[in-house]
Amino acid sequence: MAIFEPTDENLSKAGELIRQGELVSFATETVYGLGANALNPEACEKIFKAKNRPHYDPLIVHLASVDQVDDICKEMPTKAQQAAEAFWPGSLTMILPKKDVVPDSITANLDTVAVRIPNHPVALGLLQNAKVPIAAPSANPFGYLSPTTAAHVEEQLGDKLQIILDGGECDCGVESTIIDFTTEPPELLRFGGISQEQIESVCGKINLGKPVLERPLAPGQLASHYSPNTELIILKEGESAKETDGKVGFLKFGDQNLNINVDQTEEVSLDGNLEEAAHNLFSALHKLDDSNLDVIYAYEFPDKGIGRAIMDRLKKAAVKL
Ligand code: TXA
Ligand code: MG
Repeated sequence: MAIFEPTDENLSKAGELIRQGELVSFATETVYGLGANALNPEACEKIFKAKNRPHYDPLIVHLASVDQVDDICKEMPTKAQQAAEAFWPGSLTMILPKKDVVPDSITANLDTVAVRIPNHPVALGLLQNAKVPIAAPSANPFGYLSPTTAAHVEEQLGDKLQIILDGGECDCGVESTIIDFTTEPPELLRFGGISQEQIESVCGKINLGKPVLERPLAPGQLASHYSPNTELIILKEGESAKETDGKVGFLKFGDQNLNINVDQTEEVSLDGNLEEAAHNLFSALHKLDDSNLDVIYAYEFPDKGIGRAIMDRLKKAAVKL
């Protein structure tokens, strides 16, 4: 059992482990992270190994405070500074030009680095104790559903970890929004915890860009991300599910109903609240995926606010390679 309460003593031990080049999993407000000293390439190599993650998928570097940005980034454009003031600590990751201290192996040889200050006492406590930037992807095997509880991490990666710092259920429940501030206007690379509308209210118009994994330099590598093992089918509003002899799961939002017999329903929000649905999304998918079903159905989510991050995760979960 690798799950530990985030006492001062355990945070201090975990910080020490990070400095020694070991892995620590920790709660953030988005999803659980799998962290290592971002400035130590050998330590970060352990992340890629534990997750079975390809090196063309760069890591996000977590910082304790905004004055550390200067240690690892060449500059912070005005719009990035405005966004930092408005949304940090929080579920926004910024792409900025990197300094040489950041190992190329964690940025997939890009000349930029992804940076974020998480808004969770466990993540911040660990960062303060470690006293180094922490590279951390979500703490799941590459391609599988993201973890939003310590138990999810234990289940998926527990044998590879000495310590998982428990911070309860992740409040937000989907990963951070990623914005590339090296272009003008800035580009949104991944929908996440902070909506496009919120970012635009502070930074003005932003364009939609392509995430690293979908760029042509990685042909055919549009990974099936965030995937359950069970087949997931997304229906348009009013569309019918096919009759089946198999066992059916339903990821239900609001007062939706499925036209066929359902064996297991997981409700992400009874009253159709998108924030609540994001919070419950991965837990519901984990439960359905652990229930020996033949197929999971969900209807499309509204194309607004955090609903876009939910749809993005669902679409990726529905892709099978
Ligand atoms: O909420 C989150 O962001 C969580 C928690 C743990 O902080 N972390 C997370 O990391 O979602 P991960 O590894 O699952 O996602 C990292 C993604 C990459 O797949 C890539 O799309 C993008 O961040 N990324 C990282 N560095 C980049 C760069 N230099 N340029 C463009 N995209 C980058
Ligand atoms: Mg991930």
